[in-house]
Amino acid sequence: MGFQDIGSRLQQQLTTRTRCGSLRKLTAATAGSDFCSNDYLGYARHALLKQRIKEASLDLAYGSTSSRLVRGHRELTDQVEQRIAEFHQSPCALIYNSGYDANLGFWSCIPQRGDLVIFDEYIHASIRDGIRLSFARHASFKHNSLDHLEERLKSAKGLIYVAIESVYSMGGALAPLKEVQQLCADYGARLVVDEAHATGVVGERGQGLVQTANLQEQTFARVHTFGKALGCHGSAILGSQALKDYLINFSRPLIYTTALPPHSLMAIDCAYHFLDENPQHVNELNLTIDYFTHQADHPSFIKSPSPIQGFKTPGNHAVLDLANRLQQQGLDVRPMRHPTVPLGSEQIRICLHRFNTRQEINHLLQCLMREVKQP
Ligand SMILES: Cc1ncc(COP(=O)(O)O)c(C=O)c1O
Repeated sequence: MGFQDIGSRLQQQLTTRTRCGSLRKLTAATAGSDFCSNDYLGYARHALLKQRIKEASLDLAYGSTSSRLVRGHRELTDQVEQRIAEFHQSPCALIYNSGYDANLGFWSCIPQRGDLVIFDEYIHASIRDGIRLSFARHASFKHNSLDHLEERLKSAKGLIYVAIESVYSMGGALAPLKEVQQLCADYGARLVVDEAHATGVVGERGQGLVQTANLQEQTFARVHTFGKALGCHGSAILGSQALKDYLINFSRPLIYTTALPPHSLMAIDCAYHFLDENPQHVNELNLTIDYFTHQADHPSFIKSPSPIQGFKTPGNHAVLDLANRLQQQGLDVRPMRHPTVPLGSEQIRICLHRFNTRQEINHLLQCLMREVKQP
């Protein structure tokens, strides 16, 4: 097949996406009110935190220069991993360059041939991709359905892993963690929890859902990410020393990549320190969520106790259109379209932040109601 044929095949697929209203484009963030980023606590824009990171990083090298197994690992890496492990009450933490890398790195090498991975159908793409790289078998269960999970566990053979998110990036629902953990204990399965959207958000100190439920010792592994509420970048897998040693030896997204630069490590350290010093930030975020969920009054809202809310707008073209109209009114909201969400579940995703003012929320709700009345 020549370059021209390949080009036309790619073009054909892009044209199909355009026809289905699912063509993705890169657009620079608008000046409008931020109702779409994952900067839940506003740490990515916080002047004092920014100043602290700047001062702490002045003497640090710009690049890490190699992978962690060569010269990319430093004393600073050990110190930051130690801080993360202590904050999250885990024996060990292992930093990855992103949450995507951590999930790919964990799921591609921990479950092995003959094992079974059972995952919530709403699980993040990075976990799905990791599972696809693994030799283990896999099966999904209906979103947050304990009955369906138990049905899967009953018929499972081999070593079993159960993958859930504590706060689902799709829809914002919290996992019924205690019940899922109990089922895992009953059937001898290893529970792995992705806390990406719970880090800095769930629990009085933003420690995540697992610690809030005091289940850190019963959980095989946790993934925390730093690119969301902590406002910086990277992630860590939490678990035992044996798990950490294994990942250092077999987890390819950790081994075959240049380590995070020291500046990023320092940013993670400062962000955790800042969160520790300011537990009121988590409470302020929760007040914003309460305000929104009390004011939002329409059957199309998909409300949740997390910062991730939704407004059902079935159809790719319809949801894209609504998002465009809201953006024109100074509201930076983004449409969730098929295939990112199941067909018919298209929605406007509304991410709430500690810094969103009551006026901004009122404006969003008024504009949404006006648009829904006059499509
Ligand atoms: C549940 C979940 N896990 C993992 C990730 C990936 O994290 P990162 O953005 O740090 O790669 C995301 C981000 O979209 C997520 O929503």
